[in-house]
Amino acid sequence: MVNKIKTCVFISGRGSNFLSILKYSRDYNFPIKIELVISNNIKAKGLIYANKYGIPFKFFSSSNQKNFERNCLKEIKKRKIKFICLAGFMKILSNNFINSFRNRIINIHPSLLPKFKGLNTHKRVLNTKDKYSGCTVHFVNSKLDSGKIILQKKVSIDKNETKKSLQEKILKQEHKLYPQSIISIFK
Ligand code: GAR
Repeated sequence: MVNKIKTCVFISGRGSNFLSILKYSRDYNFPIKIELVISNNIKAKGLIYANKYGIPFKFFSSSNQKNFERNCLKEIKKRKIKFICLAGFMKILSNNFINSFRNRIINIHPSLLPKFKGLNTHKRVLNTKDKYSGCTVHFVNSKLDSGKIILQKKVSIDKNETKKSLQEKILKQEHKLYPQSIISIFK
């Protein structure tokens, strides 16, 4: 694909979803190209991957949201970024920022939305009698984890499931669901 959509991935930590999207994006027919990684955590492991694979990356402190978003927008404009993937980015973006990228920001969340929006998802799921959990890729709107759902993947919760085992099981699915969702948006 000649004209891949210039994309920025926002991370805060491990960056395994970023790495998975990056691997898929090497395919000629994959619709996007990651041209920038932004982290609000200087210690994010994902930044090490960005460095390793030669993807431009920036750390901006998010302690002041206005400054953070101003810095992001400046860099995004400079690089003509048209699409944003939030991948383990643990900060809420302002309505202003979201509106300036309407329908062009997507996020992955480790539950079957609309169930279990917000933090500590797996722990909360395990406190219920639910037999299934999963992950969701959705468009970002002004309400937390509430934008239009793109794709979801369900996993079963086993009898002796722990927070760690559930998290690992779901993460494995996330790594496939995120790239599939990107393909489905641009097909
Ligand atoms: C993923 O499980 C993602 O779904 C979750 O954080 C993890 C990031 O992992 N996101 C959220 O909880 C957003 N509310 P990664 O840094 O290895 O991609």
